[in-house]
Amino acid sequence: FWFLLGKRRRRSGEPPLENGLLPYLGCALQFGANPLEFLRARQKRYGCVFTCKVAGKYIHFLTDPFSYHSLTRHGKHLDWKKFHFAASAKAFGHGSIDPNDGKTSEDFHHTFIKTLQGNALNPLIETMMENLQYVMLQSSTSKLHPNNWITDRLHAFCSRVMFEAGFLTFFGTELSSNHDDNLSKQEMERARILNALENFKEFDKIFPALVAGLPIHMFKNAHSARAKLEQELLHEKLYKRDNISELVTLRMFLNDTLSTFDDKEKAKTHVVILWASQSNTIPATFWSLFHIIRNPEAMKAATEEVKNTLEDAGEKISLDGKYISLNRKQLDNMPVLDSIIKEAIRLSSASMTVRVAKEDFTLRLEDDSYNIRKNDFVALYPQLMHFDPEIYADPTIFKYDRFLNENGEEKTAFYHSGHKLRHYYMPFGAGIAKCPGRLFAVHEIKQFLTLLLSYFEMELVDNDVACPSLDQSRAGLGILPPVNDIDFRYRLKCL
Ligand code: HEM
Repeated sequence: FWFLLGKRRRRSGEPPLENGLLPYLGCALQFGANPLEFLRARQKRYGCVFTCKVAGKYIHFLTDPFSYHSLTRHGKHLDWKKFHFAASAKAFGHGSIDPNDGKTSEDFHHTFIKTLQGNALNPLIETMMENLQYVMLQSSTSKLHPNNWITDRLHAFCSRVMFEAGFLTFFGTELSSNHDDNLSKQEMERARILNALENFKEFDKIFPALVAGLPIHMFKNAHSARAKLEQELLHEKLYKRDNISELVTLRMFLNDTLSTFDDKEKAKTHVVILWASQSNTIPATFWSLFHIIRNPEAMKAATEEVKNTLEDAGEKISLDGKYISLNRKQLDNMPVLDSIIKEAIRLSSASMTVRVAKEDFTLRLEDDSYNIRKNDFVALYPQLMHFDPEIYADPTIFKYDRFLNENGEEKTAFYHSGHKLRHYYMPFGAGIAKCPGRLFAVHEIKQFLTLLLSYFEMELVDNDVACPSLDQSRAGLGILPPVNDIDFRYRLKCL
């Protein structure tokens, strides 16, 4: 009878089950409207482990942070690639990147780790520091003057600066328009990148719908925006660029040697990199800067740390075209900025970690075990933990020093029920599939803040402006942007 209704019946040893009221969709609408509230209510009703039917899938949610580790422990039974590969193909429209399907034998994850971490991170950071200064200073020098306040919208500003600098860092500069070439070529390159930003925004807007399985043909503007991004990232265009990152250079080589992708599909795999490198970084940068400007204590502590770091490094801010540089070690020794960025991300992150059961198996947790069926999903939703008042007192309040200990160093001791937590901060996912760009992401935000605090004075247009709400329509995908933008102004410091 249950089977005929398309509903699953809970078997013995399985977690409590909610089929939802709607056929196929199950609980999808309630979950999608506000995942945090939805999961909190189920946690209260069923306990820490429960199953919900969401858009035809049965998802077992593990909500106790002490059970997060079990996902790694059960790696043998849980597949992380299946979900990622399928989501990527749906959103970007490339063919299967699963080597088992025969279109490519590239191990994408390995490419990412190899080119975003370890020694590969050093040149990326170095290039980003230059590009950020080029974007912030060189471009609009005509408007920049110590007496001249410039009013802008904070999210729009962060998007422009991070997108342009990040684009140049990963995809290089046009061969004919190096930074010191003549101005009109620079302006043309800038216009093209800012045009790409508009296309990126149009495409990114419908990203949640694509991941949910809606076809891109339903969204005319976004479809054409994605096609224009692909055009920009065709191999023939990339060959005309200089200083391309190791990541993109290697991906181009592997596309050409290990895959049977056509030119368009190859370009689509580069749109994946563009999206992954920008979609979370932009809102994370916004929240970090917003909280600093709004919080005088944070502003004071951050400005002091930046000043001391530059002094120790022997770097001096000037406007005569000489950029400052900080190496990785110097950037790694900025605990106040680290804490500010972590806290801003804690408050805005809503990622979901998903694994697919390869077979029927028993999931063993500390005190319980549960039977899981083949092809079911097992998921973590760390925002529950990030907003747990037992772990983070006053969890909705921004405290710039929340991740600093009494010695002013990184704090790593967080507790729940009297026990120290192994996982207390998880915006980048967990285990094997953890974001490979996380180190670069934190470094680039730190560089952005360091440069802004060094070169500019900044203030909100309305000092008492309310903190914007999080855009829940993107819940599950990473850092949530604000629902509305904020006016601020900035001007060059008198140096
Ligand atoms: C994957 C978060 C910045 C590249 C992911 C995942 C999360 C995440 C949650 C999925 C992990 C999982 O499923 O367990 C973030 C956040 C960022 C950020 C919060 C910024 C604040 C970046 C940057 C890059 C990047 C700057 C640079 C290219 C990637 C890639 C993947 C990924 C390539 C897919 C990895 C794979 O499937 O092998 N990220 N990310 N991310 N991220 Fe990031």
